[in-house]
Formats: sequence, structure tokens, C-alpha cells
Amino acid sequence: MIAPARDVHIIGVGSCTPDRVLTNKDLEQIVDTSDEWITTRTGIKERRIADPNTPASALATEAARRALKDAGIDGTEIDQIIVGTVTGDRPFPSTACLVQDRLGAKKAYAFDISAACSGFLYALSLARTQVASGAAETVLVIGVETLSKIVDWTDRNTCVLFGDASGAVVLRSTGQPGGILSTKLHSDGALTNLLEMPGGGSLHPASHETVDKRLHYIRMSGNDVFKYAVRAMESVACEALEAAGLKPEELDLLVPHQANYRIIDATARRLGLPMEKVFVNLDRYGNTSSASIPLALDEAKRQGRLKPGSLVEMVTFGGGFTWAAAVVRW
Ligand code: ACO
Repeated sequence: MIAPARDVHIIGVGSCTPDRVLTNKDLEQIVDTSDEWITTRTGIKERRIADPNTPASALATEAARRALKDAGIDGTEIDQIIVGTVTGDRPFPSTACLVQDRLGAKKAYAFDISAACSGFLYALSLARTQVASGAAETVLVIGVETLSKIVDWTDRNTCVLFGDASGAVVLRSTGQPGGILSTKLHSDGALTNLLEMPGGGSLHPASHETVDKRLHYIRMSGNDVFKYAVRAMESVACEALEAAGLKPEELDLLVPHQANYRIIDATARRLGLPMEKVFVNLDRYGNTSSASIPLALDEAKRQGRLKPGSLVEMVTFGGGFTWAAAVVRW
């Protein structure tokens, strides 16, 4: 007989952003751009940039500590750590293993997953199955990016969009109703070239030539990504709601990936949601990829926008392409 699945709740949330702020005005000194262009095309006003000595693991560990404190537990209680990132400290070992060591999470096993801006929701979905099945009691899920380190600071098409941050949640079964009600994940590997960092892997291992060709930086076909993002975010948001037996109008809060205000606005319109029900903080952080949703979730909680019983949906789209959504009864 298959054991009934357990409820899975988010019992703690935390985030961390570097201190250094880079404003649109600052960017005017770096590339041929303007505060007006960046604001009207994206909604971004400023972003945070990690200093040269701060790798992803440092931001991830701090967000994790804050999430554990919020949950009222310590590292020794964690069974599993999953980090969603495309800018980990090194290609290997995983950033999750570095975090495990720093938290003293002796009994946890740890690994990273690569799903670009969908990394956090992919990790959350996987973690949910572990807790629901009883394979793990307590799971730490982290989204972290130091995109500033792979941004081409001579390319105005991309360098104005991204920032650095981390966010984390702790999952556990509480025996209470609610928690994570549904998750839906999708990928389309036919579209890899529209958003990528071509160099540094086994296709183009690092060499003088790959550096000269600037292959170690983000490349993006912004217009194409934009069109796919709006369609995919609407459809996966509806799919996850349907799986939970809910309709968009029942949502208290939508927490979308913070890539572009126009994408968020279009997604909200398609779902018939007023912007008062949509959480937006990209004006202060830009696109922080897999960190964007847990960072937004943490801010929403601290602003009192996530109360016990609130119905919240998270939805994202990113390189791969990958897209995903999760519905949670807080
Ligand atoms: N400042 C001034 N002008 C600029 C800038 C800039 N920073 N960047 C581009 N331009 C110019 C272009 O050169 C172009 O000029 P031209 O007409 O003379 O050729 C003009 O502005 C229009 O460029 P578009 O690319 O058509 O501008 P668009 O309105 O599409 O906005 C943007 C670009 C903001 C990138 C948008 O397409 C977008 O947000 N795309 C989605 C990005 C995204 O969501 N990514 C999510 C996933 S990220 C991840 O997974 C890591």
C-alpha cells in the first residue's frame, strides 16, 4: 500500500542582498543608456552588486541562516539542501555542499540544480516530494545568483537587467492543512540559444580564445525571451491553480519572477489580477534569476502581505527555456 502523502509547509523564509547599490544613473557612466530607457522598458531603478570577494555561497549561507532563524531551528536538523543557481562558486563541487559545511548541517546531503530563473521553483518542487513522501523531514531550499560576475559590462542589452541576491525557505510537514498545494514545471530545450552563457562548459572549455570571444558572459535575445515569458507564465500559472482546484481570482498574492515590469504586468492582466495583488520589488533589485522569488517572498512576508491562510502563487520563466509555478496556502 502506498503511504498517503504528507502536507509540506514553508516554515521559515530568509534572504540576503549585497550592500553595494548600482543605480541606473551609475550605469549611464558605464554604457550608452539612460535612467529613462531602463525605467520605461524594464521598471528597474537599481540593483545590488556583490563585491569581488563575495561568492554565491556567502550570500546563500546568509539567506539560509535567516530562514533557519525564522523557522526556529538550527543546521543540525536539516536532512537535505538544494541550491538553485547558475552562478555557483565553481562548476564543482556544488554550492550546496559549501553551504552545508558552513551551517554545520552534518546529516544533510546537498546538491545544486541548474534551471536558470526557474531554479528556485524547480528545487522547491523536488524538495516538496521528498518531504511529502517521508524521504526527508526538513529540507532547505535556496535560490542564489551572482549574475554581476557573468554580465558583459560592455553590453547595454543585458548589463542593465541583472543583480545579485539570495533567498531561502525551510520545508517541513506540520500535520496542518494547507502548505504547498501544487507545483508545475516545464522545459523546452529547443530554445537554449535565446538565453545562455556559451563558454566554460564541455562545449567551449575556457581558453584564451573563449575569453577573447566573450563567451563567458550572458547572451540573450531579449525580444524573443519576452514573448515566450508572457505566454508561458500565464499558462503554467493557470495549470498550477487548476491542479490545486483554484481560480486566479481566489489568489491573495502573485509572486512572479522579477525580470521586467512589463512581463509581470502582462501576466497579471492575462490572469485577470489587479496589480495590488501582485508583488513587485524589481525596481530595487533587477532580475536576480533563481533568487528573485524567495527574495520577493521574504519581503512580502516581512511587509505583512503573507498571513496565515493567504493563498499565494509563485510563477517564473528562465533560460533553458524553463518555466514553473507553485501554489501555497500560507
Ligand atoms: N539603453 C538604451 N538603449 C538600449 C538598451 C539600453 N540599456 N538596451 C537596448 N537598447 C536599444 C536597442 O539597441 C534597440 O535599439 P535600435 O532600435 O536602435 O536597434 C532598442 O533599444 C530596442 O531594443 P529592444 O531589445 O527591442 O527593447 P525591448 O523593448 O524588447 O526591451 C528588454 C529589451 C528589456 C531586454 C526586454 O526585451 C526584456 O525584458 N526581455 C525579457 C528578458 C527576461 O525576462 N529575461 C528573463 C529570463 S533571464 C534568465 O533566465 C537568467
